[in-house]
Amino acid sequence: PTGTETAGHPGPLAYPAARAAGCPFDPAPAVDHARREQPVTRATLWDGSPCWLVTRHQDVRDVLGDPRFSAEATRPGFPFLTAGLRELITSTSSSLIRMDDPEHARLRRMLTADFMVKKVEAMRPDVQRLADDLVDRMTDGRTSADLVTEFALPLPSLVICLLLGVPYEDHDFFQERSRVLLSLRSAPEEVRTSSDELFDYLVRLAESKQHEPDDGIVSRLVARGELDFEEVANMGRLLLIAGHETTANMTALSTLALLRNPAQLAKLREDPSLIKEAVEELLRYLTIVHNGVSRVATEDVTIGGQTIPAGEGVLCTINTANRDDAVFPGGDTLDVSRDARRHVAFGFGVHQCLGQPLARVELQIAVETLLRRLPGLRLDVPFEDVPFRHDMAIYGVHSLPIAW
Ligand code: HEM
Repeated sequence: PTGTETAGHPGPLAYPAARAAGCPFDPAPAVDHARREQPVTRATLWDGSPCWLVTRHQDVRDVLGDPRFSAEATRPGFPFLTAGLRELITSTSSSLIRMDDPEHARLRRMLTADFMVKKVEAMRPDVQRLADDLVDRMTDGRTSADLVTEFALPLPSLVICLLLGVPYEDHDFFQERSRVLLSLRSAPEEVRTSSDELFDYLVRLAESKQHEPDDGIVSRLVARGELDFEEVANMGRLLLIAGHETTANMTALSTLALLRNPAQLAKLREDPSLIKEAVEELLRYLTIVHNGVSRVATEDVTIGGQTIPAGEGVLCTINTANRDDAVFPGGDTLDVSRDARRHVAFGFGVHQCLGQPLARVELQIAVETLLRRLPGLRLDVPFEDVPFRHDMAIYGVHSLPIAW
């Protein structure tokens, strides 16, 4: 679907809409057009079901900050991007990301200490060591590699395994399942099988921690005694998937975006103290949760002058919100010295990303380490040949051949 219907006729926009050829970092033109012309706009999903797109920064914050919009996927009207994602979210018992308060808050509180800025900042030396080891291995006797498999994916995967107490040796198993769960092309049956296998794996892991505890999150959740093994497994599965697919894709896509914007790359190389601002800007510019954040209205609510009736689904397109000129002037350009802190790449409101302090530390270290260790870093294939993840719930690249 191109979704260009909105350009002339104000009919519903087919969503997700395609990005423009040759502009893989920019949101789909039809949705960006909606942001300018009709910021709260009707859309139609894959199965013909209707939903609303909320495309501007302020309106997105209004929706995500309002408890009248529910995150519970079991409510009628909740918008799903594919049959597979509907299967994933409705077939298995839900995790905290798809619950409302007070139950959501009760579960989230059990994890806040683990992801506090202070706790995560203390992990910097360990994350730095892992990053340097990966670069050592990647560059040993070679001048080219795939950045995704050799650096971008293993780094956050090693870190989240360590944090959770999941054996990294099993990464082929859970990375393959998680790929099926996040693919927009997976059939519902495939999603169900992968989801069940991942769940069973985490139930067995939780049970094993009762007899052989370590200092990981799964052990601590078991020891707390407030959750049964299945609830612990649900939380573990959410963290395992969220913990490595996201940062991994941000790392590879950020590297590519910097290589495509040599002046910005040069600026960051000249002044590495810009790394924190640069990472916020990359999060804003790339917004890898590229199809938006779903909610359903539980009452009639007016957003941006448009009434969204109770029971209707809403997709907050955080990628267009992050290009909103009202907040980020010249938002379509990457500018590593911009103050991008108000971006909504981690969402907003009570569900705002729990792992963001960790994601920030990982991304700052990953990008800084690559630039420092690989002064001759370059793309090893024509840009046109880079396989972008148009087919995945989390955007990025499937592989990134680099040389140095
Ligand atoms: C929630 C993005 C990394 C764990 C979210 C949400 C977004 C997001 C947009 C909100 C979803 C919603 O409101 O429905 C990202 C991005 C990341 C990242 C862009 C990396 C660049 C991580 C990491 C972890 C993590 C590293 C964990 C280790 C979570 C959890 C939630 C969440 C548990 C649910 C929070 C809640 O519902 O209260 N993330 N995330 N994320 N993220 Fe992340």
